[in-house]
Amino acid sequence: MNTQPRHDDAAPKRRINSLAVFAGAVVTVVLGVVIGANVMFNRLLDAPLAGDHSENVSATTTTEVAVALSTAPAAAKVQAVTTAFAPPAEDSLPEGDYGKMIRLGERIFKETGKYAPRYVGNDLNCVNCHLDGGRKPDSAPLWAAFVHYPAYRSKTGKVDTLASRIQGCFAFSMNGKAPLQDDEIMTALQTYAFWLATGAPVGKPMPGSGYPKLKKAAQPDYARGEKVYMQNCALCHGTDGQGQRTGNIQVFPPLWGPKSFNWGAGMHQLANAAGFIQTNMPLGKGGTLSEQDAWDVAMFMNSHERPQDPRFMGSIEATRKKYHDTDDSMYGRTVNGHVLGSPYRDGAAFESVVATEARSYGTLIRNAGLADR
Ligand code: HEC
Ligand code: HEC
Repeated sequence: MNTQPRHDDAAPKRRINSLAVFAGAVVTVVLGVVIGANVMFNRLLDAPLAGDHSENVSATTTTEVAVALSTAPAAAKVQAVTTAFAPPAEDSLPEGDYGKMIRLGERIFKETGKYAPRYVGNDLNCVNCHLDGGRKPDSAPLWAAFVHYPAYRSKTGKVDTLASRIQGCFAFSMNGKAPLQDDEIMTALQTYAFWLATGAPVGKPMPGSGYPKLKKAAQPDYARGEKVYMQNCALCHGTDGQGQRTGNIQVFPPLWGPKSFNWGAGMHQLANAAGFIQTNMPLGKGGTLSEQDAWDVAMFMNSHERPQDPRFMGSIEATRKKYHDTDDSMYGRTVNGHVLGSPYRDGAAFESVVATEARSYGTLIRNAGLADR
C-alpha cells in the first residue's frame, strides 16, 4: 500500500533529476560555446591594443582576421531574416547576354578598382559600404534603391535618378570620376540593381532601405569616440585608420586619409556614418554598439583628414557655407588645432593631386548638378 505512492513519487523525481541534468548539460554546452566564441572574438579585438604598434596588427592577426571574416556572412544573414524582401539567390542568375551584364555589374560592385579602374580614385569598393554585394538591409541595399528612384531630394533640389546616385558615389565615395550615363559600367550596375530588385514593389518605402537614422542622446564627442575606436575598430581598420592590405588586396578598407572617401561623400556625414556603423560594425557584430557609441565613433572617424570635396570653391569657408553648413559635417571645423578640409597633412604631393583633380572634374560635377551622397 505504501510502496505504490513511493514508487509514483520517485518516478517523476527521477525524471526531473535527469531532466535537470540534461538541461544543465545543454546550458553548459551552450554557455561554453557562447563564452568560448566571445572570448575568442574579444581576444581578437583586444589583441593589437596590447602592443601599440600598428605594424604588429597586420603581422599577428592575419589568421585571426580570417576567422572574424568567416563569421561575418552568417551574422549578416541572421539580420537579413528580419526584413520582408529577399533578392534572388546567387544561383538563379539568368543565362545569356542579360545574365552576363548582371554578372559584370556584380563584379564592378564588388571589385570596383579592378573592373572600373578609370573611375576610381581610392582603395574602396562599392561593397564596402553596401554590404553583401548590395543585398544587406540597412546598408543602403541596391534592391531598395532601384525601386526608390527617380525621387525628388531636397539635398540636390531636383529629381535624382538611380544613375545620378551611382554617379555621385563614384565622384565622392570612390573619390573618382563619374562614368557617363551611357557607359557600359553604368548599364551593368543598373542591370545588377534591377535584377536584385526582382519582385520588389515600385515606389513603396521598403524596410531596410538606406542607412538607419539613429537618435542622438548627447552631442557626439571626439575623446569618447577615440576610445570606442581603439576598442572596437582599430584591430581591422588600423590604429591609423588606414585599413590593411595583403599583397594587392585591401582586406580592410581605410576610414580616412588619402585612400578613403572624400569630403563630399555621404559617409562623411555623421548621421549616415553613425547609422551604418551601429548596424554593420564591428563587422560580424553589427548592432552591439550603443547608439551613442556609434555617434561618438562616427565623429572621431570623420574628424580626420580625407581627400578634398571635388566641389571645392577655392576656400574652406566658402565650401563649408555652400555644402557643409550643418551639424552633420566636420568639414571646415577645427579639431586638435587642425582645420578639417585643409590641404592634406601628410605630404604636398597628395595635396596637389587633389587640387588638380578638384579643378578638372569639379566643374564636371557642378555641371551635372551632383551633390552630397
Ligand atoms: C564610403 C562608403 C560608400 C561607398 C564606397 C559607396 N557608397 Fe553608395 N552610398 C553611400 C552613402 C552614405 C549613401 C547615401 C545613403 C543615404 O543617403 O541614405 C549611398 C547611396 C547610394 C545609392 C542610393 C541608395 C538609396 O537607397 O538611396 C546607390 C544606388 C549607391 N550608393 C551606389 C553605389 C555604387 C554603385 C558604389 C560604387 C561605385 C557606391 N555606392 C559606393 C556610401 C558609399
Ligand atoms: C573584424 C574586422 C572589422 C572591425 C572590428 C570593424 N570593421 Fe569596419 N569594415 C570591415 C570590413 C571588412 C569592411 C568592408 C565590408 C565589406 O566589404 O563587406 C568594413 C567597412 C567599414 C566602413 C565602410 C568602408 C570605409 O572604409 O569607409 C566603415 C565606415 C567602417 N567599417 C567603420 C568601422 C568602425 C567605426 C568600426 C568600429 C566600431 C569598425 N568598422 C570595426 C572590418 C571591420
